[in-house]
Amino acid sequence: MNKIFVDACFGKETPYTPVWMMRQAGRYLPEYMEVRAQAGDFLNLCHDPKKACEVSLQPVDIVGVDAAILFSDILVIPDEMGMDLSFVKGEGPKFSDPVRDEADLDRLIGGEAAASKLTYVYDTIKLIKEQLAEDKALIGFTGAPWTLATYMIEGEGTKTYNICKKMMYSNPELLHKILAKVTEVVKLYMEKQIQAGIDVVQIFDSWAAAIEPSKYDEFSWKYMVEIADYLKGKYPHIPIIMFPKGVPAFLDKVYGNFDVFGVDWSTPMAFAKDKLGDKYVLQGNMEPCRLYSKESTTECVEALQEIMGGKRHIFNLGHGILPDVPVENAKHFINECHRVSGK
Ligand code: CP3
Repeated sequence: MNKIFVDACFGKETPYTPVWMMRQAGRYLPEYMEVRAQAGDFLNLCHDPKKACEVSLQPVDIVGVDAAILFSDILVIPDEMGMDLSFVKGEGPKFSDPVRDEADLDRLIGGEAAASKLTYVYDTIKLIKEQLAEDKALIGFTGAPWTLATYMIEGEGTKTYNICKKMMYSNPELLHKILAKVTEVVKLYMEKQIQAGIDVVQIFDSWAAAIEPSKYDEFSWKYMVEIADYLKGKYPHIPIIMFPKGVPAFLDKVYGNFDVFGVDWSTPMAFAKDKLGDKYVLQGNMEPCRLYSKESTTECVEALQEIMGGKRHIFNLGHGILPDVPVENAKHFINECHRVSGK
């Protein structure tokens, strides 16, 4: 059966414009919190295919999105490259052994050896596919090499990125070696996600905006394009969504063999359409905090429909949903996207 979501990613005409939400499985859902509490540690949840499958499917049933996103985290990649990841309550992800020099890089597991350790992700995908309705798509994902490298180098989330930026300007060769090693793992990881059954790939470059525009291609985009080229060469039927957050100054320079450009909430949709709408399908881009008000949600969904005209568009938030959004308001967003586009 044709999946409307996959057709929309390829820019085909669809009966209505599909919608999903970034971080759609998560803390705003009481049903997620229940499974999360049973799992204990967040990483346990990622490592448990049955539970990860259950929380991946929840938003499809509860809020009515057109595609499920695999439940996992981008940081399982460096974890399986041999780094020591933990999630500290209230502080977010931490690596006790950040990568700061060649010796640190050399001890990381690369390529096939790392990608083949992520079996719990592939098992989760297989379980989801058994249970997901035929007409719904499953989105698999990875972090962009740059976004992954920021955590690997800093050892945690950062506001200043000073350690990786010091490397960018004073030892760019080392940063490129780190990015290249991560890129090799990501290519194989996404290939294995495709072989396990995902219908769509999304590459999250959440910390794209940390790089000055003239350096963005060199340190991030070209690696994302390398991943897309590798996957498109072998799996042209799998659409690829690129989501670099907060790079309006780069829109004139966007290139590459992928299908959908994810527009973040700080970039006006009309501006993105003008720059990229002929080349790529656009995804997005409601400011997630509009979800706190049903009126503000409706206003934005109607404006997006007006701008995009129901063509070459996938509705989404312009970044992740926040944990204290009422479920009812998340449902309202999905319903409004369907209503204005004629479902
Ligand atoms: O979107 C989805 O529903 C799929 C699941 C998903 C998670 N993380 C689950 C998660 C996805 C796609 C991610 C990707 C991810 N992880 C990104 C890129 C996406 C983006 O929004 O920009 C990033 C930067 C990370 C790294 C990470 N993981 C951070 C910064 C945090 C928050 C830490 C905190 O405690 O606030 C996480 C943890 C995380 N990943 C949670 C979830 C649901 C919350 C953990 C919990 O339930 O306690």
